[in-house]
Amino acid sequence: MSSLLSIEGLSIEAGGQTLVSDVSFSVASGERLGLIGESGSGKSLTALAAIGLLPEGLRAGGSVLLGGKQVVGARDRDLVPLRGTTVATVFQEPLTALDPLMKIGRQVAEAVRRRARRDGQPSDETTITREVLDLLDQVALPQPERIAKSWPHEISGGQRQRAAIAMALACRPELLIADEPTTALDVTTQAEILDLLGRLVRERNMALLFISHDLPVVANAVDRVVVLRHGRIVEQGPVGTVFQQPSHDYTQSLVAAARSFDNALEIAP
Ligand SMILES: Nc1ncnc2c1ncn2[C@@H]1O[C@H](COP(=O)(O)OP(=O)(O)OP(=O)(O)O)[C@@H](O)[C@H]1O
Ligand SMILES: [Mg+2]
Repeated sequence: MSSLLSIEGLSIEAGGQTLVSDVSFSVASGERLGLIGESGSGKSLTALAAIGLLPEGLRAGGSVLLGGKQVVGARDRDLVPLRGTTVATVFQEPLTALDPLMKIGRQVAEAVRRRARRDGQPSDETTITREVLDLLDQVALPQPERIAKSWPHEISGGQRQRAAIAMALACRPELLIADEPTTALDVTTQAEILDLLGRLVRERNMALLFISHDLPVVANAVDRVVVLRHGRIVEQGPVGTVFQQPSHDYTQSLVAAARSFDNALEIAP
């Protein structure tokens, strides 16, 4: 299996302060990897560094190979072709992915048209519209025609996240990076979106980098986990091993907290 994403000794600094230090992991084709850790542990920065989109003022060191291309120190225009072909992203708040001033159908259509042109496929209005409705259907949005004609503020948060996932899928990425994709949603909608992501990743044989602070959520979504704390990796391995025999104190406390939450739910009336 070749690595789609290979991170070696990644560091991220801001004004002399080290935010992420010596992070190394890789994601192979078709593999599902979880990145977990408490708030502020460096999960999102690691994901942004992986796609070369660190905020202004932050500097990455080390090596990030994405689809075989070096991301650290690369010019943005050299990275643009990778985003949307090798990798697509879904973030916590779907409104960040969606333009509030454009109807859902048009936004998904733009992504579909870019992909069609890239692959030298027909990009006439009829073909694009058919694919947009098909994508909205695949992310299980009810009444795709109505949703396509809606503004982002006219649909629910869960529906917006489904639309954002449809946009990410439109470019047929090999790797999907999902940064806390369900955190802003209620528990039932969270479970539905997780099921959807799991199904799409399997069906399309995509690799997944799934970021979450929520241990049970990660455990169900991935094969292997990397645990971050204060910007460093404290543990990594297969999901079963890390959760059943956590070796680091911090992972042990995460697992214990998740267990006591589960137990509390079981004894709740
Ligand atoms: N633009 C920035 N400039 C300076 N420091 C930043 C910047 N963005 C993030 N940080 C700091 O870097 C650290 C890691 O942030 P990051 O967003 O990666 O955390 P996270 O693990 O994703 O947390 P959460 O679970 O809350 O999303 C934090 O201490 C944060 O305050
Ligand atoms: Mg984050």
